[in-house]
Amino acid sequence: MRILSGIQPSGSLHLGNYFGMMQRAISWQEKGEAIYFIADYHALTSLQDPSSLRRNVLEVARAFLACGLDPDRATLFRQSDVPWVVELAWLLSCCTPVGLLERCHSYKDKIARGLPASHALFSYPVLMAADILLYQAEMVPVGKDQKQHLEITRDIAAKFNQRFGPVFRIPEPDIQPDVAVVPGIDGQKMSKSYGNTVEIFADPEEITTRVMAIKTDSTPVEAPKPVEGSILASLYKLVSSPEEYQEWVASMRRGGIGYATYKKELAAKILGYFAPIRERYRQLGEKPSYVEEVLAQGAERARKLARPTLEMARRAAGLD
Ligand code: ADP
Ligand code: TRP
Repeated sequence: MRILSGIQPSGSLHLGNYFGMMQRAISWQEKGEAIYFIADYHALTSLQDPSSLRRNVLEVARAFLACGLDPDRATLFRQSDVPWVVELAWLLSCCTPVGLLERCHSYKDKIARGLPASHALFSYPVLMAADILLYQAEMVPVGKDQKQHLEITRDIAAKFNQRFGPVFRIPEPDIQPDVAVVPGIDGQKMSKSYGNTVEIFADPEEITTRVMAIKTDSTPVEAPKPVEGSILASLYKLVSSPEEYQEWVASMRRGGIGYATYKKELAAKILGYFAPIRERYRQLGEKPSYVEEVLAQGAERARKLARPTLEMARRAAGLD
């Protein structure tokens, strides 16, 4: 089984990225041929500051390694180290109806948030399809917000195959229902662009401050607290054992404890959960050349995997 996913180097890793994508992606390395990349071409649609882009790419690579990616089992590379993906995106563009892209929620959301409506932003899903199809991925672990992009990838692959012959495998999304959407401190989807994140590599004080700012209702201390829809409970569930979560829920239902106490407990739990990952991240910070080496080795492997598919697609389309 070949598993592939990508993440944009557009900011620091938060709980939503970790539980929605990274943890799941890394757990796949035990079960199949895992391929992960840092989507720097995609990031250019919204991040146009070269030194931040360079820095963020290395930071995401370091985060992947800290979270447990094993470079001997999985391939980790920088998207732009395999520029063939852009050529494939062009071939796929020729089989992509504009209507398909016009329906994209992610594009509409980004425009609504004020990003300039560039051609790259509009064709973002075609490049994403190329990422997936170039490596003949079968399984793509992502958060729920990427579901539509996966559907578009499947559509484009089917159209290309229909017109030019069976070149591409049709990939499946892998979306874990219980952590499909991790809420941010304001209750919306946790996202860098909403400024509502809890970053897993921030200072402990910063993490605690963010958790203390989680939105709660005005239930008095002595009264039972609603669990359904509670941001605190949703986040606690991610970082605790099932027994601890049961206890927490029972305590909320009993009442008698104020939200501040729950928040402190959650902050401590988050720090405990991520302690080993944060320590590895710190250590990797002292070995930047190791991180570069992993990316270089990953790029070499990725190019080997990509080349036969690109050649097949070119030949099928008559470009040989
Ligand atoms: P952001 O919304 O912060 O910009 P990205 O779009 O870079 O995050 O997402 C990277 C990966 O993390 C994607 O697979 C995405 O589905 C997942 N992800 C991001 N935010 C969440 C969230 N709040 N809940 C679940 N998964 C998420
Ligand atoms: N669009 C994805 C995101 O914002 C990142 C991404 C780019 C990706 N190419 C991909 C994810 C291919 C999975 C497969 O999170």
